[in-house]
Amino acid sequence: MKIETTPIEGQKPGTSGLRKKTRVFMQPSYLENFIQATFAAIGGGAGKTLVIGGDGRFFNKRAIQTILKMAAANGVTKAIVGQGGILSTPAASHLIRLNEADGGFILSASHNPAGIDQDFGIKFNGANGGPATDTLSAKIYDATLSITAYHLADTGDIDLQGVGVVHLDDMEIHIVDPVESYLALMEQLFDFTAIQALFAGGFTMRFDAMHAVTGPYARAILEETLGAAAGTVVNGIPLEDFGGGHPDPNPIWAKPLMDLMMSDHAPDMGAASDGDGDRNMIVGRGIYVTPSDSLAILCANAHLVPAYAGGLAGIARSMPTSAASDRVAKNLGIDAFETPTGWKFFGNLLDAGKVTICGEESAGTGSSHVREKDGLWAVLLWLNILAVRKQSVSEIVTDHWQTYGRDYYSRYDFEGIAPERANTLMTGLGAKIPALAGQVFGALTVAKADAFSYLDPVDGSVSENQGVRIFFESGARAVLRLSGTGTQGATLRIYLEQYSATDIALDTQSALKDVRDAALMICDLEAIIGRSRPDVIT
Ligand code: G1P
Ligand code: ZN
Repeated sequence: MKIETTPIEGQKPGTSGLRKKTRVFMQPSYLENFIQATFAAIGGGAGKTLVIGGDGRFFNKRAIQTILKMAAANGVTKAIVGQGGILSTPAASHLIRLNEADGGFILSASHNPAGIDQDFGIKFNGANGGPATDTLSAKIYDATLSITAYHLADTGDIDLQGVGVVHLDDMEIHIVDPVESYLALMEQLFDFTAIQALFAGGFTMRFDAMHAVTGPYARAILEETLGAAAGTVVNGIPLEDFGGGHPDPNPIWAKPLMDLMMSDHAPDMGAASDGDGDRNMIVGRGIYVTPSDSLAILCANAHLVPAYAGGLAGIARSMPTSAASDRVAKNLGIDAFETPTGWKFFGNLLDAGKVTICGEESAGTGSSHVREKDGLWAVLLWLNILAVRKQSVSEIVTDHWQTYGRDYYSRYDFEGIAPERANTLMTGLGAKIPALAGQVFGALTVAKADAFSYLDPVDGSVSENQGVRIFFESGARAVLRLSGTGTQGATLRIYLEQYSATDIALDTQSALKDVRDAALMICDLEAIIGRSRPDVIT
């Protein structure tokens, strides 16, 4: 096999979850550096089996060809690739586990817009199907700084349009239907017969695939298998630019779906997923279910579904996610874990059998069935629960609030802040923490504040400075942290929460007014970044 080695000049990608402008990835040797560094970090490619696929965005096809040629030249024995280069993130996680692969490359920038002037991303997942650990990420990063050449098989492009096995030098490439094994997994987890009966009984739904990767999955599962009416799935053909949209399933970016669900002709349920299929949005007729509430409600009802009939081992939520799921864990008598933002922290807990369901306020929910969050899984879990309880989304949510009280919740994002200013704000806030307790801000008094630090109960690692938490005596909480996934400037996220045991019918923003005012005062937002209005409120 002829191997071409090319010196790498100057490109220094970051860690395992690399997300940059597409044109950055298109620079000579940039992607190649990351791939070769990953092979260096995992002890070489020789004898390994890898899963490769992506969300279909612009540059997906090119990147997959490069990765396949590099995998062959690095001695990989078997590559499992989604037909056309397509795999949703949860489906890729499942394929790694199902095939006992050594890991996989997932090409996506999640919900970020796609196109030559938008974003691209790549990450390496390990043998458990989950995102690389911090230790492996650090190894990959170090290797990007030290490698001097990469290996690439000198061959033409591989045709990925048909399903089957092809060879690239000594490497077998198994081109698989992206949906097939994922659908089989969902069939094992859920009572498809009950969901079929629900649709057969006239239940109506709209699933907005937002021109991204879940279109083919949703069509095959909802329409072709479960009997949802044709046309239930909209925007179902994945496009390289996601139709020019922003495939983030929240009330802002999925506005057409929200408008429909709040109108007189709303179907029984609305749902959407993001660019790579790991996020979900759930809307009932006239009611948006916040991701934090959705997590809590799914956990409280999971026992009604075959996969979770034996109960949950525990529940994990990311720190900024509301405390609603903690209340459910308490009621069930199981452990509740609070982890830093990002799915990778759930992996250890899932692997150790300490939790069964996990979730984040940013519309990610998942379980032990894979090691990524899973958009369609969450939709199917809701459908299965609706089929068993024979109530509407709204009835189930209201009943939950009546039982547990309601955690009013909203996130404010301030985007494109100059990084120095964002750092000034966070450093200033950090310095104030020790003196905050007892201070009054408008209508609220601070009970306690800290910079969140996480001790992983499985491997003992510590992650510090994962955001500032401010708890108030009223039962409110404000969290401030900087986003780690943006590609332009800094994004400040302010997460607001107010619990009420009895008042469950207030307007969310009114219920959060006091905590919002207090949070903005405490961090000196206006003085430091020169504005007080968020770019996005979810
Ligand atoms: C955001 C979300 C976080 C999620 C991540 C990847 O990260 O807030 O919950 O895990 O995207 O989907 P952030 O930009 O806040 O660092
Ligand atoms: Zn995503």
